[in-house]
Amino acid sequence: MLNVVVMVSGGGTNLEAIIKAIDSGKIKNARISCVISNNKGAFALERAKNHGIDSFCISPKDYSNRSSFNQALVSKLDELAPDLIVLAGFLVVIPEELISHFENRIINIHPSLIPSFCGKGFYGLKVHEGVLARGVKVTGATVHFVDSGTDTGPIILQKPVLVKDDDTPEVLQRRVMEEAEWQILPEAIDLIASGRVKVEGGRVRIL
Ligand code: GRF
Repeated sequence: MLNVVVMVSGGGTNLEAIIKAIDSGKIKNARISCVISNNKGAFALERAKNHGIDSFCISPKDYSNRSSFNQALVSKLDELAPDLIVLAGFLVVIPEELISHFENRIINIHPSLIPSFCGKGFYGLKVHEGVLARGVKVTGATVHFVDSGTDTGPIILQKPVLVKDDDTPEVLQRRVMEEAEWQILPEAIDLIASGRVKVEGGRVRIL
């Protein structure tokens, strides 16, 4: 059984999609042992509680500097010993130590088709604002492994979503979530839990 820790900062709709997929059997052989947030007010923490899942907040505000915050995060994750860490809207830079310790065991969901509209500064609504400003006709979402760059790790799954003429960033954000994120994030976890994701030369092969 894959021991999964989900890290969140906000609403937690992706967390909810993962929980539903586990409950319905779409994700097999995995359980969420804990949800960690950097933000006390994250609604995702409520969602975890409602489903009886352990949750913790580790906020940078409670530490005098970044390195002690990072240390707290690393210690908590060491203690939980997850097989997989899922960043589901986690808006904190992951400490280098975690990335090397959990190489190819941390995945992230990004709301665009990487390598477009990703990297530094592209988070939340800014991604969808960028898509609309450029006038692309197709956007989507990407699940990828986390490496030391920003949105540069091996790509596991992608799903396209059509952009409409009258979209606002908020409307597009919602459609990308519904049509892509909530589907490919659980799907990627299921593939990993069933041992079907292999990283070779910086690329993912689905077995
Ligand atoms: C999603 O758009 C995700 O792609 C991005 O942050 C957002 C999180 O939303 N990384 P939620 O907290 O899962 O509702």
